[in-house]
Amino acid sequence: MQNVWLRPITLEDADAVQRCASDAKLAATCNVPHPYPLNGGQQFAERSIRAREQKQRFPHAIVCNDQFVGVIGINLPDFSNLTAEVDYWLAVPFWGRGIMTQAVGLVVEIAFQELGFRHLFSSCWAENPASCRVLEKNGFRKIQSVLNDGHFGQKFLGQTIHRFRLSYEEWLNRAKAS
Ligand SMILES: CC(C)(COP(=O)(O)OP(=O)(O)OC[C@H]1O[C@@H](n2cnc3c(N)ncnc32)[C@H](O)[C@@H]1OP(=O)(O)O)[C@@H](O)C(=O)NCCC(=O)NCCS
Repeated sequence: MQNVWLRPITLEDADAVQRCASDAKLAATCNVPHPYPLNGGQQFAERSIRAREQKQRFPHAIVCNDQFVGVIGINLPDFSNLTAEVDYWLAVPFWGRGIMTQAVGLVVEIAFQELGFRHLFSSCWAENPASCRVLEKNGFRKIQSVLNDGHFGQKFLGQTIHRFRLSYEEWLNRAKAS
């Protein structure tokens, strides 16, 4: 197990976000734009802080061994239906070490226990089996596969996206069983 924890994004993360998000290999797998804007890290950090204050999104820095390694967010909160989306990216040098599996586990706990959501959703491209696996390892179930007609952004138009869901009850039952 890696030493992984989550904390809110701060302005001090701007440089690390800029460096990590500028990697073409990262942009090829997720909705991070490429080329990444020159002030993208700073804008991301400022928007993240504002969004959290206004309860529009809950973006977290993923920290591993005291180093910023990626971002994981609880997004599109619906406080009437108690649903939200989980989205994430990990800096390329840290792929394949189990870090995102741990980070998703931590963010799910925050979403259910601290924020009170009852259903979490997430999506991953069919071409990104590692991301699907991370969700499955945290108990998310695939509920739908759809072609991206633009609803999930313009970048991967025409590609298949898998939708996943995890309910609070499913999560509790898993915790009891383990
Ligand atoms: C995809 C991503 C989230 C995975 O994070 P990670 O920390 O490298 O993942 P982990 O090491 O925790 O786990 C990856 C799992 O996928 C598996 N995996 C990796 N490549 C795979 C492949 N090609 N096919 C099937 N499974 C694969 C690994 O074996 C591991 O499962 P296991 O523990 O059962 O062996 C990370 O690489 C990332 O952020 N990529 C860029 C952004 C992105 O893809 N975001 C998600 C948008 S959909």
